Amino acid sequence: MQRAAQCALRLDISRAFCPSSARNCRAVNRVNGSVSSRRYSVLPPPRDEEEKAMLDSMLRVDHAGEYGANRIYAGQMAVLGRTQTGPLIQHMWDQEKMHLERFNEILGEHRVRPTLLLPLWNIAGFALGACTALLGKEGAMACTVAVEESISEHYNSQIRTLMEADPERYTELLQLIKEFRDDEIEHHDTGLEHDAESVSLICWFASYKMYVLVCCCCCV
Ligand SMILES: [Fe+2]
Ligand SMILES: [Fe+2]
Repeated sequence: MQRAAQCALRLDISRAFCPSSARNCRAVNRVNGSVSSRRYSVLPPPRDEEEKAMLDSMLRVDHAGEYGANRIYAGQMAVLGRTQTGPLIQHMWDQEKMHLERFNEILGEHRVRPTLLLPLWNIAGFALGACTALLGKEGAMACTVAVEESISEHYNSQIRTLMEADPERYTELLQLIKEFRDDEIEHHDTGLEHDAESVSLICWFASYKMYVLVCCCCCV
């Protein structure tokens, strides 16, 4: 809980400096040092069609992953919201809401279409969260560990790709993905600290595989 409190404090501080979003920062003019009210983009203007397709695909899957995570936590809260575990799940869900809000902004800003499978993810994510939560707190945490492990691996893979391509060019996007990756690792560790491992591996395996499968399909 101490870790959760520290994280909540960190989030509050960043929101205090950037009111509408933790990443909603102002752009600094590098020539004269003045601060403009325009939000900077995390993406550089695309060089060509190939780069645009690569970045669109990355953002589409990231958005789908965050959307799915939100629906999973919604399902968990529907079952466990009134229990002692409720505030813990709510805290992680609040961070997922912030991640999703940021990707919503980026998709809109860069005119990237969300995945066509969003309606499916809406139902499947909620069902995954609710079903694992019906096994109790341990089931919900096993699902959290599986999902967060999957998404942090996914973000690590994207970080490697962008670092190999051009770290200077993708500085802001890398920073965003690393911040979100760190939040996902924290959620993963929170699940482990709350008895996720006491539940059968089957629950973990099913959640992990389902999340990976849906996210892989969400590039369309
Ligand atoms: Fe997230
Ligand atoms: Fe997460």
